[in-house]
Amino acid sequence: MSLFRTKPLTTILQQGGDGESHGALHKVLNVRDLTFFGIAAIIGGGTFSAIGQACYSGGPGVTLLYIICGVACGFTAMCYAEFASRVPVSGSAYTYAYVSFGELFAWIIGWALIMEYSIGNIYIAFSWSGYFTNLLEAFHIHLPDWLTINYRAAHQAFLDGAKGEGMQAWTTAPQIGSLKVIFDLPAVLINVLITYLVYRGTKESRNFSNAMVYIKLAIIVLVILVGAMYVDINNWTPFMPNGFGGVMGGVSAVFFAYIGFDAVSTLAEECKNPQRDLPRGMIYSLVVCTVVYIILALVLTGMVSYQYLGVSDPLAEIFALKGVKWMLFIVSIAAVVAMTSVLLVFQMGQPRIWMTMSRDGLMPKQFSQIHPKYKTPGFATIVTGFVVGLPIFFTDENFVLDFTSIGTLFAFVLVCGGVLLLSPQSPEEVAEGKTKGKFRIPYVNGKYIFPLLVAGSGGLIALLFPDFFISAFDYSEGNRAASIPMTLFFVLCTVMSVLAHLKNLSLIPLLGLVSCCYLLTGMAASNWMWFGVWLLIGLVIYFGFSRKNSKLNTEN
Ligand code: ALA
Repeated sequence: MSLFRTKPLTTILQQGGDGESHGALHKVLNVRDLTFFGIAAIIGGGTFSAIGQACYSGGPGVTLLYIICGVACGFTAMCYAEFASRVPVSGSAYTYAYVSFGELFAWIIGWALIMEYSIGNIYIAFSWSGYFTNLLEAFHIHLPDWLTINYRAAHQAFLDGAKGEGMQAWTTAPQIGSLKVIFDLPAVLINVLITYLVYRGTKESRNFSNAMVYIKLAIIVLVILVGAMYVDINNWTPFMPNGFGGVMGGVSAVFFAYIGFDAVSTLAEECKNPQRDLPRGMIYSLVVCTVVYIILALVLTGMVSYQYLGVSDPLAEIFALKGVKWMLFIVSIAAVVAMTSVLLVFQMGQPRIWMTMSRDGLMPKQFSQIHPKYKTPGFATIVTGFVVGLPIFFTDENFVLDFTSIGTLFAFVLVCGGVLLLSPQSPEEVAEGKTKGKFRIPYVNGKYIFPLLVAGSGGLIALLFPDFFISAFDYSEGNRAASIPMTLFFVLCTVMSVLAHLKNLSLIPLLGLVSCCYLLTGMAASNWMWFGVWLLIGLVIYFGFSRKNSKLNTEN
């Protein structure tokens, strides 16, 4: 059926791999650059802002969630790496889905990736603005409150009668007619600056990004070292003050902190040796960040009671509480630097995905135009600037955080599923040397191991947490929203166990798929609703425009 027609790998490699026919992008990136791009994309708003809410909700037990998310992302990174090695062209998960699931799913992933890259950058721009405003304050520069907060947050503060910046912004804002002029000026300006930088070219962006990664890693190590001196192990008890439910309540925030390793794969066409270097860059950056997060979460929850961490600038807050004033300034600089680099990488990723979709006819052809001088997808870059910039005027942080995490997890699930559909590395391929220098996930037959793991984990949970299954299947009024995803998850595990047994499925992508689905069960019902609306809009565009213009129509 045409909706599920897949794109032959040879066509993709001809169209994008050489780069010639589309005005070649500069091939300047090596494995170190890619690892740095990964770290640049990973450590940002999740580490400096969202971690606060996650610790507040889960207490010290949030460390477990960092481990769970790290493991889920590790499996997924291996899947991305295999795809990136087999399909070393721009487009990331979108292109991978085109090869394995066909056009409709490819479109859906491309559409979901907008949530990761563009919507994700809205959250980071807001967080950036918060720390940047702190820095300005250190230099005694005070922007009016109505220029440092988004409209919705100020309006909400007014409705709640809350004292503070929001109410202040609402009451002091100038008006045009009946409309109050309230917007986050630093967030708007950083978006304009980043868009300009990305428009100017990859090489410039790369140099900028590498420099920022050095600064951010050095300062995070300092935060950990100084923070460790203030750790009081009594703060680690109780370990899960709000139970495991509280820990899972931080899933959007913790997962958000990991997003970014996959952005490396969007740079395939700018790599010197994509098949060897892309997988390495992704996995190296993920390993570094996982270690950093686990240590950081332990230090944070060890320094003060988790109850103090529910703020938007937790790393600054802990040092403020301990009276270490000089660290406040350093942390604010690190946060601004870290988030700038994330903004940069995401803002580079989005236009490259659109560029690939446009080459396939699924987006208008302007999106694949390459700037003659700067060799960047110029039009798509500018559109990205608007897609990130305009919502800054009317959305708020929490909404975009949840939206980004659910959309990205969805894309990850499809990537892991896609690898399951690819043929694993065969002994013949290895013997012929066909996979030399390429990355292939080691094939471990899931026939018995996977069903045993599922049954074993279920048994262990029942033994250690007897109430777990009772609440998972509790369909009473207040609990239904949490029970439906959990029930679906159990069904999925059972179905995948049967399939693994019948089809000898490869264990690692299987674990990636199941662990990402598990994280999805932690998403709130309202997130699912908005995600559904987003998908629906995407499908209308696909059937209204993209399907008719697909290049596969003319090629077949
Ligand atoms: N992981 C990225 C961040 O935390 C998206 O900013």
